[in-house]
Amino acid sequence: MGVGGQKDLADSPAYTVYTDNDAPKTGESVSCTVIGTIETPYKRMEDCPNRHNKQEFLPCTIRLGAEFAPGLAGFEVGGKALVLYWFHRARRDMIQLPAREGVRDKPVGVFSLRTPPRPNPIAAQTVEILAVRDGELDVVGLDCLDGTPLLDIKRTKR
Ligand SMILES: C[S@@+](CC[C@H](N)C(=O)[O-])C[C@H]1O[C@@H](n2cnc3c(N)ncnc32)[C@H](O)[C@@H]1O
Repeated sequence: MGVGGQKDLADSPAYTVYTDNDAPKTGESVSCTVIGTIETPYKRMEDCPNRHNKQEFLPCTIRLGAEFAPGLAGFEVGGKALVLYWFHRARRDMIQLPAREGVRDKPVGVFSLRTPPRPNPIAAQTVEILAVRDGELDVVGLDCLDGTPLLDIKRTKR
């Protein structure tokens, strides 16, 4: 166990800390750890809210793995958080979306959009915290499929 009774995460090769000399370069891969799972009422892609279908945001539950649960200390009901998650069903081989009749008249770069297909399909959404339990947060504001992997949570003011 490491400082504060936490599991010593640094023992895992997935938690490499680089130096200035070996910082990962463009095109190389870095390792991320899934810290939990997001449970949502959205079972199909078309159930997920987005700016086109304007579906309502429904309450969802963020469930952390036991070793990451202590990281929720400090969250309070009514607070806000930025949630980062991994769009596991998204294509990763697209840098532009092609022109499509009735949608866009020329190709557009994925970095100018919030669309799931992108080299690193990281999604970000600000949520309101409805409930805090041991290793769990109930939140509203997420737009992902049930079972979407959780990468990080950051407290935010708005
Ligand atoms: C337009 S994206 C926006 C994502 C996030 N709010 C952001 O701004 O980074 C939201 C859409 O991604 C799709 N989606 C949801 N969960 C997904 C998953 N696990 N893998 C791939 N696509 C997903 C759904 O169609 C949903 O409406």
